[in-house]
Amino acid sequence: MSIPIYTYDAIIVGAGLAGCAAARELQNAGKKVAVITKLHPLRSHSGAAQGGINAAFSEKDSVELHEFDTVKGSDYLADQDAVEFMCQKAPETIRWVERMGAAFSRTEDGKIAQRPFGGQSSPRACYAKDRTGLTLLQTIYEQAHRAGVKFWDEWYAADIIYKDGKVSGVVAFNIRDMQVVIFNAKSVMFATGGYARSYKINSNAHANTGDGLSIVARHGLPLEDMEFVQFHPSGLSGNGVLISEAARGEGGRLFNSLGERFMEKYAPNAMELASRDVVSRAIINEIREGRGVGPRKDAVFIDVTHLGKDLIMERLPELRDLAITFLGLDMIKEPILISATAHYSMGGIPVNIAGNVRKNNTELVEGFYAAGECSCVSVHGANRLGANSVLEALLFGRFVGKTMVKEVDDIELRVATKEDAKTALDEINFILNNNGNETITGLREELQQGMTTNAGAFRTKESLETQIASIKELHKRFKNIRIKDKSKIFNTELQEAIEFGHMLDYSAFIVESAIARNESRGAHFREDFDTRDDENFLKHTMAYMDKNGDISLDYMDVVLGKHELKARNY
Ligand code: FUM
Repeated sequence: MSIPIYTYDAIIVGAGLAGCAAARELQNAGKKVAVITKLHPLRSHSGAAQGGINAAFSEKDSVELHEFDTVKGSDYLADQDAVEFMCQKAPETIRWVERMGAAFSRTEDGKIAQRPFGGQSSPRACYAKDRTGLTLLQTIYEQAHRAGVKFWDEWYAADIIYKDGKVSGVVAFNIRDMQVVIFNAKSVMFATGGYARSYKINSNAHANTGDGLSIVARHGLPLEDMEFVQFHPSGLSGNGVLISEAARGEGGRLFNSLGERFMEKYAPNAMELASRDVVSRAIINEIREGRGVGPRKDAVFIDVTHLGKDLIMERLPELRDLAITFLGLDMIKEPILISATAHYSMGGIPVNIAGNVRKNNTELVEGFYAAGECSCVSVHGANRLGANSVLEALLFGRFVGKTMVKEVDDIELRVATKEDAKTALDEINFILNNNGNETITGLREELQQGMTTNAGAFRTKESLETQIASIKELHKRFKNIRIKDKSKIFNTELQEAIEFGHMLDYSAFIVESAIARNESRGAHFREDFDTRDDENFLKHTMAYMDKNGDISLDYMDVVLGKHELKARNY
């Protein structure tokens, strides 16, 4: 097969908020940049963020309070230098995106409206009804397009070219016809998003299969804090589709089967607006103790009827539509059924504040950058606050783009050869030609069910060890797969098989990192070690995979700062 080689200054993988923002910076600085994305950019998962984007600019709020809330929300695992950078730049980020055309909802006197969100001391989430992410994505994509960024959409990034501590390109194929191409570049940025698809009930797009993370890990590079997977309190019962925290921010109340507003027991002050890890565990606990509602008793009620039709139609129209479509329930007239849903990944590809990918605790990879949910900078630590992820993606995407502009001219292009595509080609050929008797749908179902049961919002050493044994078994069975579609035209079965391989690899990181963390912190709740242990675990996990797929763990210091360690109560 002939393999064309295209040469760029910068290649960005992923066209959500982070990818588009970085690409626009590079293009406007006159660099030759392209974005590779397996979807059309406007279908990127950034568009699914509903409730808001945080920035402290009202009179009653301050940057310092935003920092404090974020550090407390993170259960003190966030790096405080990164948190300070993000919170300080947040108001400017809102003005920047607004001036590019993002239409935020307004107050009566014409200011950008802000709503309360969980774990925040002040209403801080700027919003566009309940379609904030989509509004921002449309704006930044339009502006990147206008600047002249080249988008290779429906192209699948299969590998990076990594040698001797330096990345010099990406191997990708066209989903339309399987044409493999090398994008040779001085610099590469990953903005590949999150990976909650390894859980059965999740709020993520089908595309969120964590490809970027395992591509990196397969080259022996570390993944950081993978044990911290966020469960959002309100996914639609049965399918996990997001019902934004905006519903609780606007005043929504949670009830169990006894009609109790149960958050009184778990977070008497913040109630429904405690941080997500606290509210999710409360919901799951109510269900586990037999106070669930709905036909399967596996949900609780969220009630917004007291807000009235006008407010719901003005601020939560999308949520209403979703509940009508999927549950047949109209939130104007009745409570709807929700439960916790795997939503966000605090861990990811370790980067410094400038966005350079870490090779280990002390060294950086030359020419390699990451931003957004696939990265770990770490501004969220063990638990992210709602409306900080859209902020992180847009803000760090933009600033990492600026870093790349500064550094790219000093990076020498290492010229690629078609040999660099060998791993990707071997993977494709194996999947197309293997003639075993396992199906991807069957294996994926087992992985997702196991991750939910054994490595979910509540875990124990025993459940995690059961899960790692299952992942090892699934790895063996993956070698025995067979896909039915042997063609090269829009072969989605082949793509799903590649994606499943990634899901298996990064799931092993989640579980191995969780087994070793003998404490409970933020979203990582170990029933056998149910308190935070700062003496032994105030540190980031750095996990590495060897050629046999075995994972070893190291740890990295947390950057502490002015916000001192305290017990976390809401
Ligand atoms: O609930 C939501 O609207 C989700 C926002 C977020 O994850 O930041």
